[in-house]
Amino acid sequence: MNAEACTYVIFGATGNLSRIKLMPALYHLDAANHLPKGTRILAIGRRPWDQNKWLSEVRDMIIAKSKDDFDDAVFKRFAERLYYHQGDIGQPESYQSLAEVLNVKNSFPRNIAFYLSISPADFGIVMERLSDNHLFDEEEGWRRVIIEKPFGYDLDSARALQKRISHYLTEEQIYRIDHYLGKGMVQNVLVFRFANVMLEPLWNRNYIDHIQITHSEELGIEGRGDYYNSAGALRDMLQSHLLQLLTLVTMEPPASMEAESLRDEKVKVLKSIRPIPKEAVHGHAFRGQYSPGHVKGDKVNGYLQEDNIPANSVTETYASMKLYIDNWRWRGVPMYLRTGKRMAKAQSTISICFRHPPLQFFRDTNVQCMSQNWVLLGIQPEECIRIEMTVKEPGLEMKTRTSSLDASFRNQDEKAIDAYEDLLLDVLKGDRSLFLRFDEVEYAWRIVDPILQTWAIERDYIATYPAGSWGPEDSRLFEKSSQSWRSSLTPECK
Ligand code: BG6
Repeated sequence: MNAEACTYVIFGATGNLSRIKLMPALYHLDAANHLPKGTRILAIGRRPWDQNKWLSEVRDMIIAKSKDDFDDAVFKRFAERLYYHQGDIGQPESYQSLAEVLNVKNSFPRNIAFYLSISPADFGIVMERLSDNHLFDEEEGWRRVIIEKPFGYDLDSARALQKRISHYLTEEQIYRIDHYLGKGMVQNVLVFRFANVMLEPLWNRNYIDHIQITHSEELGIEGRGDYYNSAGALRDMLQSHLLQLLTLVTMEPPASMEAESLRDEKVKVLKSIRPIPKEAVHGHAFRGQYSPGHVKGDKVNGYLQEDNIPANSVTETYASMKLYIDNWRWRGVPMYLRTGKRMAKAQSTISICFRHPPLQFFRDTNVQCMSQNWVLLGIQPEECIRIEMTVKEPGLEMKTRTSSLDASFRNQDEKAIDAYEDLLLDVLKGDRSLFLRFDEVEYAWRIVDPILQTWAIERDYIATYPAGSWGPEDSRLFEKSSQSWRSSLTPECK
């Protein structure tokens, strides 16, 4: 698919996401000559800035992100694409003036992508007003809308939002972003599974003991108290990014890599996840909140001391859960997912633990370390694929150790590409394979809804964990005593 020139209209252009992700990603795409000729970027913000002020703001955003990579000549070219339009999303006149600006012939390409980097509560009204001003009419070019997560607050609100926006847009025009799908290593999971034959025959309940997905962060809530306190870790990370990772690791090979085939397979996984009845929530999910502690040697506040957090908040900053996928491939294999803020280390990893060999031949020998085989997919910061095997130690004695086969994803001289670069370019190509279809969002909410509802009424107590630790003690989730969280990408001998 070819990328076509378009006008990127960014709502919330002066906000955090735009600063740290969107503008730097667009600049890098331009620097690598990926932005089609004529592409324009129209920023909408409330502040009374003129064009010069906007250019100097964007310059600062890019320098802050790119440091050594910043190139004045590239920025000069990039700056020619940039425009600032002052507008308040709450004011109907802002949309009329936007339509007037966009309709000036030959100034802006007629293909338009609207990026809604705004509060989800405003999605509906912004779309209604864009539609009232005929900005979604496709007579002269395509119109696409990119929506950031969270899509809704629970199953009912997601359905209500979908109902509302489907008045104005067709499914083909909606790009629901989950930036995890733009990460290079996440896409590499598909390549690893479907471009190699070695492991696929073993990728099922006959050989795999369990699967773990961990996303841990050292950071706290970073000034996002209002949003985070009403969301919590389950909504913020698990319902979206972690369930997406789970679908990619466990789905059947799609008929093709075309968007609908890929999304059909992901939905099949989500549909096969065994529903968690409300009375079983405690056996399947755990929540915790960070208390004061130390991260990288620095003393940090607990969640309750963060700005804009009520003193009695029971919002979870850590969430873990156990799921079962009731299909032929995975029946009976537990899938453990966890995520937390202010944990010991920032990393995202998918860890696949294989069963023990059917006969333990070395039981009566001196063999000390009979670890199970693991496949480790490091998503970030280390991007790697490792396969751990048991090998004999050199020497006369029969001793073993774990050795790891390493398939690096990127050589040292190959640059990391931010997930947003990939996704912003896919919008220009009309490639929706890495964006979520509504049924994916819907089934993901179905999975977490009983947990959210149970936690919402249990407001007296939440387990805590010291900031800088690996989270609360939640080993009750594990099916067997031999299973526990794996936090390291290097061999762990038990
Ligand atoms: C966002 C969440 O979607 O993902 C944040 O809202 C979280 O709370 C972030 O920190 C993690 O993304 P990444 O790319 O830094 O792993």
